Amino acid sequence: MSRHTIRIAPSILSADFARLADEIARVERGGADLLHIDVMDGHFVPNLTVGPPIVEALRKVTKLPLDVHLMMTNPDAFVAEFAEAGADYLTVHVETCPHLHRTVQSIKERGVKAGVSVNPATPIGLLEEIALDADLILIMSVNPGFGGQQFIPSSLQKIAQARQLIDRVKSPAALEVDGGVKPDNAGQIIQAGADILVSGSAIFSANDYGTVIAALRAAGQSASFPRNPQTVPVHR
Ligand code: DX5
Ligand code: ZN
Repeated sequence: MSRHTIRIAPSILSADFARLADEIARVERGGADLLHIDVMDGHFVPNLTVGPPIVEALRKVTKLPLDVHLMMTNPDAFVAEFAEAGADYLTVHVETCPHLHRTVQSIKERGVKAGVSVNPATPIGLLEEIALDADLILIMSVNPGFGGQQFIPSSLQKIAQARQLIDRVKSPAALEVDGGVKPDNAGQIIQAGADILVSGSAIFSANDYGTVIAALRAAGQSASFPRNPQTVPVHR
């Protein structure tokens, strides 16, 4: 039995964009804990998605916390707008923030929870100095840009390293994992240390979203605890 609460954050990137309010109502009824919104700028990542007006519109149709993932080259220029639009979490990439501490503070000053994310090839060590200030650490387990990609196996080791960092510095941050998360790998991901699972294609390709959300959450209950990073296989 898991000793901690696992939260599930459906990513609307794989939802039907013409029926977003209905899609969100379905994941909300299905037990989602957060709504993950992927913002892509066509520059940091090779895709374009949504901006503050969509976040503002979605704020009106759901009670779920809005978990806004900024995959953009200059997130500082948009922190105020996304905060105004109603984001509950704003997550920036360390690869895009030369003054990460300042960016995190500017998010928190607006009453929004601040997340920091690393791409698959970015070492966890870059989070060492910011971990204590972050409300969320997001490990990308695919190269960001698209839904429906395969989970990169070496991400398990990075999740375990991030868990060790959070525990060592006594950071309040939740540990979120994004990319290729499905019921069949969720157990390993939770055992490695994740608290929040983002899942897009696995949920929105199903007939019943609630069944997949429940399966992702239940994977934590079959994982063996206490979590021990030494037991996480290293994939190279
Ligand atoms: C990828 C996005 C993810 C994506 C996950 O760049 O950040 O949030 O929607 O989708 P799946 O679960 O299909 O990998
Ligand atoms: Zn995302």
